[in-house]
Amino acid sequence: MSTYPNLRMRRGRSAPWIREMLAENRLHPSDLILPMFVCEGSGCEEPVESLRGVSRWSVDRLAERAQEAARLGIPCIALFPNTPPALRSESGEEALNADNLICRAIRAVKNAVPEIGVLTDVALDPYTSHGHDGLVDAKGRIINDDTLEVLTAQALVQAAAGADIVAPSDMMDGRVGAIRAALESEGHFDVSIMAYAAKYASAFYGPFRDAVGSRGLLKGDKRAYQMNPANGMEAVREVELDLAEGADMVMVKPGLPYLDVLARVKDEFGVPTFAYQVSGEYAMIEAAAAAGVGERDALILETLLAFKRAGATGVLTYHALDAARLIGT
Ligand code: PBG
Repeated sequence: MSTYPNLRMRRGRSAPWIREMLAENRLHPSDLILPMFVCEGSGCEEPVESLRGVSRWSVDRLAERAQEAARLGIPCIALFPNTPPALRSESGEEALNADNLICRAIRAVKNAVPEIGVLTDVALDPYTSHGHDGLVDAKGRIINDDTLEVLTAQALVQAAAGADIVAPSDMMDGRVGAIRAALESEGHFDVSIMAYAAKYASAFYGPFRDAVGSRGLLKGDKRAYQMNPANGMEAVREVELDLAEGADMVMVKPGLPYLDVLARVKDEFGVPTFAYQVSGEYAMIEAAAAAGVGERDALILETLLAFKRAGATGVLTYHALDAARLIGT
């Protein structure tokens, strides 16, 4: 093994051209998935206070935003509805309404920007009056198997509206298999499943819950179904199960605090593996930049590149538009 002075590692860092030439990983706009929030009304943009720079858009204004993402080379957007309070219920029936906000949003985007992929969340939290992802029994427990039936119906409604990827984020056992079987039997052969396979019960989801309007509603926490942040091996088991049940791609969520999990999953299975840089992570970067502790653009690009280095196929990030613009310059 060659050592100093025969080997000087700094030679490879001595000028921009050689740093570029030796880069092991690169960020590209096609690595990015942009999550977007949708609200009722027309002509509306509602800024989400805890997510500086992120807004909810009414369906009629969503397509122009999706168009912008497509123009920047972003291949896919993830849509999340802010369901009006009057339509939320104990069992979240609105999730199954073929003309609900998310379905109208899917149709509007697919109609106006057919070249961009549309991913939708399968979980009941934007539709339930208690803010949980599943059905709740009298003792406040989340009922697994009955929830599967609702989630399956929800996935079918989204697929029928034109969703390209359905992404179960609920963490019920068996949901990927149930959804896959239903998609097959209804002829949705080309609809992919991106499983939120290793989704942790995290303190980083707060601003997202503001955006979909579930923070104030949530009774208790989600620790009886989302994973314990203490566990890494368990993520491998979760991913293995979701793949066996028919997931095309898997996700690890949150992002940066779970890079070890991401790397482990990618090394173990070698399947398309996505990271979700979640709302609290976005908010932390924005807060750091606003406080003058870091340079915003650099923080954005460095964190996103870290996902690539850890093995991510792509990243869901609220910074997707900014990142794509920065990469392009
Ligand atoms: C809902 C869902 C959540 C997120 C994505 N889908 C929140 C939760 O599980 O409570 C979080 C995303 C983010 O924080 O950006 N099942």
